[in-house]
Amino acid sequence: MTGHAPLIAPELRDAFQGKRVLITGGLGFIGSCLAHELLGLGARVVLVDSLIPEYGGNRANVAGLEGALTVNISDVRDEHSFRELVRGQDILFNLAGQTSHLDSMENPFNDLEINCRSQLSILETCRKINPDVRIVFASTRQIYGRPEYLPVDERHPLAPVDVNGINKTAGEWYHRLYGQVYGLGVTVLRLTNTYGPRMRVVDARQTFLGYWFRQILDGETLRVFGDGEQLRDFTYADDAVRAFLLAASRPEALGEVFNLGSKEVVSLLDLARLVVAANGSGTYEVVPFPPDRKAIDIGDYYADFSHARAALGWEPRVGLTEGIAGSLAYYRDRRASYW
Ligand SMILES: NC(=O)c1ccc[n+]([C@@H]2O[C@H](COP(=O)([O-])OP(=O)(O)OC[C@H]3O[C@@H](n4cnc5c(N)ncnc54)[C@H](O)[C@@H]3O)[C@@H](O)[C@H]2O)c1
Repeated sequence: MTGHAPLIAPELRDAFQGKRVLITGGLGFIGSCLAHELLGLGARVVLVDSLIPEYGGNRANVAGLEGALTVNISDVRDEHSFRELVRGQDILFNLAGQTSHLDSMENPFNDLEINCRSQLSILETCRKINPDVRIVFASTRQIYGRPEYLPVDERHPLAPVDVNGINKTAGEWYHRLYGQVYGLGVTVLRLTNTYGPRMRVVDARQTFLGYWFRQILDGETLRVFGDGEQLRDFTYADDAVRAFLLAASRPEALGEVFNLGSKEVVSLLDLARLVVAANGSGTYEVVPFPPDRKAIDIGDYYADFSHARAALGWEPRVGLTEGIAGSLAYYRDRRASYW
């Protein structure tokens, strides 16, 4: 999805035409991709983002949309401003988050504030100010921890291996609880590694794949940790966006929790090879795991997304080769905005 590409989900136009939509974390990677699509579907979009420098928020993510949407630079920890922002909205896509696993270990209370406490305050505000707002929450595969079996389905035990995973688990459970007890219209998506245009590529703090995009374009050697045999699944941004839209618009999604995933399972070594191939040149090397990363690594992971397929008709459409090529094409001309 680059610039004003064709709509990802034109069949959902009726569901979003004229709808008032609030996206927390809206200047970040997935939130901004969602904003582009929602504007194309005729929604009235407000973005909330704190633009904390180390996080994924970037004004370049909505370049060209100035005037078409409202951007509110505020922090979801600020209950007072959130009250005004959520008033009158039809849909809340709740994506604001501290997303670095390493940072959550180095600064656990910050992660607690954003991923746990503010989630509760967002829900309390919805309950009091706008109990009819439809909510989709961005949860994560990190809450499963090290898989006991593969592929991981939604019934897999939750055993997070880092502070971020624990706080995201709490954030998810607050959403589910407010759905069950107060009748808020909540859907949870448990995202796996998501990638594509508009993701943060400054460093490997959030995700190594974004950093690999930057490195390969700069002619640097990609570093694969461990033996490179760890298995992963990757969802392209467009597919994630379609899942959020289906989750917000399908009655079958109410009260449900869905894994997202991929039809392709890939080792990290093979992923490095794909990135090199898509770029047409480049090198990678296998290096020992840095101890701080090894301590919170989850080993092999890939999701069973059959629940989303059965209930929502969602399945990934963009393969890895196409998705990596699309990502590199996006960043090639936009270094000034993303490096
Ligand atoms: N990208 C992935 O691979 C992935 C995987 C699993 C889950 N998720 C979840 O999806 C959501 C979006 O992730 P993303 O990849 O787009 O990350 P991102 O960092 O690009 O976007 C998150 C946005 O939230 C904003 N934000 C952070 N704290 C905030 C606060 N206190 N108040 C207001 N805004 C704040 C950031 O500035 C950023 O723009 C996150 O909740 C993340 O946990 C993402």
